[in-house]
Amino acid sequence: MLETESLTRRFGGVVAVNDVSVRVAQGELHGIIGPNGAGKSTLFALITGHLRPNTGAVAFDGRRIEHLPAHERARLGIAIAFQSVRLFRGMSVLENVMVGAQCSTHHGFLEAALRLPRHRREERAIREKAEASLQRAGITAHAGRSAQSLPLGLQRAVQVARALCGGPRLLLLDEPASGLRGAEREALSGLIEQLRGEGLTVLLVEHDVAFVTRLASRITVMDRGRVIAEGPPAEIRRDPAVVAAYLGREKASA
Ligand SMILES: Nc1ncnc2c1ncn2[C@@H]1O[C@H](COP(=O)(O)OP(=O)(O)OP(=O)(O)O)[C@@H](O)[C@H]1O
Ligand SMILES: [Mg+2]
Repeated sequence: MLETESLTRRFGGVVAVNDVSVRVAQGELHGIIGPNGAGKSTLFALITGHLRPNTGAVAFDGRRIEHLPAHERARLGIAIAFQSVRLFRGMSVLENVMVGAQCSTHHGFLEAALRLPRHRREERAIREKAEASLQRAGITAHAGRSAQSLPLGLQRAVQVARALCGGPRLLLLDEPASGLRGAEREALSGLIEQLRGEGLTVLLVEHDVAFVTRLASRITVMDRGRVIAEGPPAEIRRDPAVVAAYLGREKASA
């Protein structure tokens, strides 16, 4: 479903993503791990279109998309829940999720301001989609709450619901569980597991190897912009290069 081919992205002298080729099959939950600064979020931005590569290609369903802007890639079915929580604090949970569907509607600002009938119809359709994705994320009970009062675990679930609102086929989750502990962490893990069960294709960036190992069928390991290993979780955990570059370092800092 998704294939990156020798993707490279530089920031000044830093090669954030260096010759990265990743393949993700339909229905797969593919994990990406690596230490801070490994290039995971930059890779995600190259896939969603928030950044352009210096060289290399991205294909989705066999179609080259690296030249497309982010909103067109979203329309093709690629959605992301960003690493940092970006909720609109003055809006309710439901309204925050409705924002996720805006890109798939046709009306312009003028029409929206005039509240033309087509706009009202679309708003109703968006609301229904948002309610469905709150349900899918298991947070319907919180629909009316103000986003700023939510605990972090719920904020993360709202972000996932927002990404689901456009009905994506490929969902990118950038460290959705970071900062979560105990029951919140378990709930988020359960949500990701459920989405995998529904057949959604998921790319999951996560620092916690145990967390991603439980969920992913394949894992790509990045370090300093490069892919240093790729394979099923059991292999990855034994890979000497991974242990040296990542697991060892993690242990050292623990
Ligand atoms: N907009 C930017 N401008 C300059 N340098 C950047 C930019 N974005 C990322 N970088 C650099 O690119 C490298 C990769 O960063 P990236 O955020 O992709 O890593 P990451 O694997 O997501 O790290 P983390 O686990 O901390 O989220 C880092 O050296 C970072 O400082
Ligand atoms: Mg990151």
